[in-house]
Amino acid sequence: MNFTRFAAAASLMAALGAGAALANDFDTEVETRQGQFKLFAFNIGPLVEMAQGDIDYDADMAATAAENLASVTSLHQDRLWPDGSDNESIEGTRALPAIWENLDDFADKYADLGEATANLEMAAGEGLDELRGAIGAVGNACSACHDDYRAEQ
Ligand code: HEC
Repeated sequence: MNFTRFAAAASLMAALGAGAALANDFDTEVETRQGQFKLFAFNIGPLVEMAQGDIDYDADMAATAAENLASVTSLHQDRLWPDGSDNESIEGTRALPAIWENLDDFADKYADLGEATANLEMAAGEGLDELRGAIGAVGNACSACHDDYRAEQ
């Protein structure tokens, strides 16, 4: 590495470090995992509306939204849930300490969502009945985890 590059890297690190020092240590992880959940909500939204008949069934939109859900569910979670990032330790999160006391169960609930979204991905573009048949399990997987591991607003 030549000196110019080294200096650029060092000043970049300083800039990142200065930013982090002002905020709590886990801002990036918390914002990133919340962003992931926003993507879930954004993509499940039209699927629920179609299933309930609030908007017309659109096979392409249904297939794309279900594919997005399955894709986001497949992201590895390891670095998003550091110790000490629960809602009793830091501000700005609804993640309950129970997550870290039951990490295996939390991972299982995440895996249940993965299974449900994989089924939805196969079904959603095939017709309204197929979408309706697969979406309930996805909603249940969201709720099952929120009931145990997410604080009320
Ligand atoms: C394995 C557990 C788990 C599953 C499964 C899960 N969630 Fe969550 N969700 C959480 C936790 C924990 C939080 C709080 C995260 C935080 O504030 O750090 C959360 C937060 C959220 C939020 C708030 C995000 C924000 O802006 O702060 C939304 C919306 C959400 N989840 C939607 C969903 C939807 C939709 C599904 C199903 C497709 C889902 N979640 C599945 C655990 C889960």
